[in-house]
Amino acid sequence: MENNKIIENNKSYWNENADYWFGTTALPKYGVKFVTEDELHLFGDVSGKKMLEICCGSGHSLKYHADRNAGELWGVDLSEKQLDNAREYLAQNGYTANLICSPMEAELDVPKEYFDFVYSIYGIGWTTDLQGTLDKFASYLKKDGIFIFSWHHPLHYCVAWSCEERKDVIEDEKLVFHRSYFDESYFTMPVHDSEIILCNRKISTYVNALAKAGFVIEQMIEQNDRETMESTEDTSDKTRKAKMLPISVCFKARKL
Ligand SMILES: C[S@@+](CC[C@H](N)C(=O)[O-])C[C@H]1O[C@@H](n2cnc3c(N)ncnc32)[C@H](O)[C@@H]1O
Repeated sequence: MENNKIIENNKSYWNENADYWFGTTALPKYGVKFVTEDELHLFGDVSGKKMLEICCGSGHSLKYHADRNAGELWGVDLSEKQLDNAREYLAQNGYTANLICSPMEAELDVPKEYFDFVYSIYGIGWTTDLQGTLDKFASYLKKDGIFIFSWHHPLHYCVAWSCEERKDVIEDEKLVFHRSYFDESYFTMPVHDSEIILCNRKISTYVNALAKAGFVIEQMIEQNDRETMESTEDTSDKTRKAKMLPISVCFKARKL
């Protein structure tokens, strides 16, 4: 499928379902059952810093930085509805941001060599052009500027419990590969009477695209949160899976 058709499909999904996800994937969380910014401190002191959030959604991560005295807040998202929600949520909290409605794949109407941080919480995997997108992000950052992003860990999409439909055989269950780790082709996933289109990129695809765009990786995090790892009572499929493999992945990279 052509990239612009994928973007249009995903845009209509987000315009129709923005309210369902209001504030669900935002700092200090990097992902479900994942270590948080409270423990990782990847951003450090953001006071006075110029922040650009890609796929800013409902604006909760922008508010997180505003609460910590960030100097400038900029947000980009494909969905007008998400940006309406973000504008309203920030205004209710006494903040404003420069909000831009655009696919991240486009050349954004933002200053070049300007930002201290470009970041994205569960956004980057939506791009239909990873290398072009990362090249552009590098151009918006100052030298030594920081790019932070989190996304689904590729193993999470490849592996599932063998007996998901049979709760009576938990002890016989195994995690099995139901798709290849190497398969980066696009797939359609039904969600909320609609569908989204994504692909599952390998870790090396992200690492190599970051390097090619002129970033050096400072940290890569694959750690689920302590509550999940130590829980004995929660026997849900997701928690048992999270004890065996990373559900999300997070990168911190610096522009050379
Ligand atoms: C999982 S949400 C991230 C939510 C965000 N972290 C928050 O706090 O609300 C993914 C976001 O990416 C946006 N998106 C999807 N594809 C995009 C694209 N190609 N360019 C820009 N934004 C995109 C969606 O509209 C949605 O708001």
